[in-house]
Amino acid sequence: MNIEWDAGKYTKDFSFVHQYGNDAAELIDCKAGGAVLDLGCGNGSLTNRLKNKGFHVIGIDDSEDLLNVARSNYPDINFIKADAAAFTLNKPVDAVFSNAVFHWIDKDKQPSMLSCVYNALKDNGQFVFEFGGHGNNALIHGELEKAFLKYGYYYKMPFYFPTIGEYASLVEQAGFQVRYAVLFVRPTELKGEQGLKDWIDMFVKTPFLAVASPEDAESIKTMAVRNLKHVLYKNGKWYADYVRIRMKAYKD
Ligand code: BEZ
Repeated sequence: MNIEWDAGKYTKDFSFVHQYGNDAAELIDCKAGGAVLDLGCGNGSLTNRLKNKGFHVIGIDDSEDLLNVARSNYPDINFIKADAAAFTLNKPVDAVFSNAVFHWIDKDKQPSMLSCVYNALKDNGQFVFEFGGHGNNALIHGELEKAFLKYGYYYKMPFYFPTIGEYASLVEQAGFQVRYAVLFVRPTELKGEQGLKDWIDMFVKTPFLAVASPEDAESIKTMAVRNLKHVLYKNGKWYADYVRIRMKAYKD
């Protein structure tokens, strides 16, 4: 994944990420006791929610910092450190679930990730996921790109936000049958008066590695936030322009 996580701040100020994942999780229709893998489980909140639904859960994540939080909060869940695009399970599961993860995986690694998921599932197993789709945060990235240029830098987009058609094709090419697919707009409230600045600090890290000084980085963020205020700040609250892809597919 393209990020070093600040696990404490993520858990404290960005809990909406896993709260929004609940709706997608409703698409899993295994019996109680069914085995479910939470791929990119982060701090384990949603993994625990799945456990409370009666599933036998496993969480996989590549961030040791997030896994430390997950293991300390939910010591009875099996959390495994692994790359989502290069993992195997000892025993196949009934369902693989993932929320807000796949946009962090580079486009060229998506086929390996989908093939790992396919191999991790039992025959007819379910693959249920949600992540950022085409147009996700387009206003934010557009203004960051302009601000980078103004200060003499190139903005390299750090996320993969495919169209629904592109992604459904990839999922089919991996051997799945797609039975449900939707792309929808979901303005997402951010926490506090500094909500957008905090969001950029938390999630948009890699493009700033190319910025020569902390002063330039701050100026870029200030400019982008100022230019976005008239569209993303309403009635005293910041809203990020989220667009989601949600799908359910079966191992054929
Ligand atoms: C998302 O959930 O869509 C997302 C979150 C942070 C950065 C990029 C996308």
